[in-house]
Amino acid sequence: MRAALAKVDVARLGERIEELGAIGRTADGGVTRLGLSPEEDAAKTLVARWLQARGGRITRDPAANLIAGFGSGDRAIVIASHLDSVPNGGKYDGHLGVLCAVELIEAATAAGVALPRLDIIGWTDEEGARFGVGLFGSAAAYGRLPEGVVARRDRDGVSIADALRALGHDGDPAAARRRGTDRLYLELHIEQGPNLERAKRPLGVVRTIVGITHLRVTVEGAAGHAGTTPMEGRRDALVAAAEMVLALDDAARRRGGTVATVGEISAEPGAKNVIPGRVIFTVDVRSPDDDGRRAVVSVLEDAKRDAVQRRGVRVDFDTLADLPAVELDKGIRGALGEALREVGVEPLELVSGAGHDAQNPALAGVPTGMLFIRSTNGSHNPREHATAEDAALATKALILSIARLN
Ligand code: GLV
Ligand code: MN
Ligand code: MN
Repeated sequence: MRAALAKVDVARLGERIEELGAIGRTADGGVTRLGLSPEEDAAKTLVARWLQARGGRITRDPAANLIAGFGSGDRAIVIASHLDSVPNGGKYDGHLGVLCAVELIEAATAAGVALPRLDIIGWTDEEGARFGVGLFGSAAAYGRLPEGVVARRDRDGVSIADALRALGHDGDPAAARRRGTDRLYLELHIEQGPNLERAKRPLGVVRTIVGITHLRVTVEGAAGHAGTTPMEGRRDALVAAAEMVLALDDAARRRGGTVATVGEISAEPGAKNVIPGRVIFTVDVRSPDDDGRRAVVSVLEDAKRDAVQRRGVRVDFDTLADLPAVELDKGIRGALGEALREVGVEPLELVSGAGHDAQNPALAGVPTGMLFIRSTNGSHNPREHATAEDAALATKALILSIARLN
């Protein structure tokens, strides 16, 4: 594997960041490439073309994940990340991990090295921005799809089953399950936070991925005339929701290390002279400490009871995700750390505040590791940025990690 190091090509990586980033490009230079959309499909087709040209055995599994197999052997080393984005997101989140895997194949081919059995995977719908449920493709692959998930619909009423069918996948996505064939799982991803930049290090090793609770909350009150309905006895769904949002924010602030966000809210019927009759909002609570996360969610449950009693509303919680924090494999972290030292980077272990597909193999018992690549301007916005030089260094560290772990 080491002979491949000299063939890693920073210019090719830079060009491909742009080529892939052009699929779903928005007016202000961002990317909109939602899960199971034609744009996500086109990104998989482009990556498949690159990998097929280097001898990859290309398949799309029943969850529409792109898989390119190399080398031989019963059990695979999986190198994977995702190819979808949030609305108007950046061109690095997920995509850069896939591009580094492609570059590893390019470099190994150019150097003529024999590959171990490798499966390069581009996961479907990691973000969950369209149907509300994230990590879809990797959940299918590791037997962790939520019950009834294919019936979930996007804002236009298209279900996951419909969207899969439109892309030529008629079967059950649960059939994408990988049956104990994975030796280990590696994922490269931009950090999406400031720690590596602050530490002036291009790469880091992920120690823990935070646990995540995602809810969709529906508050049913009673719509009414804004001018003629007395304040007493109103069942204002937005006021009840506002109290819950503030209780959640307050609970997360008190509980250090836990973050809580309400990123979507809508009020119906939506007119300035009508009391809101129904409000739907999302909740995202994350923490490396599962007790902390549960404590914040339980404050929201208290706020729900309070809203029902004092405001006369009905409140329903729909749980979209409930994932525990995961600590990644110690042995793999050690190998990744040694690989970083070999490329001249003193390893720093990090907590990931973002969710990642790597959670699914880790929770399914596959030894799993992740490398973070320094990024700037945060993430989930068009300004998100990482350099091709750092991506090339990450590819070298990946090559060295595989040399150690194989
Ligand atoms: C995915 O990017 C997430 O952490 O929400
Ligand atoms: Mn991502
Ligand atoms: Mn993301």
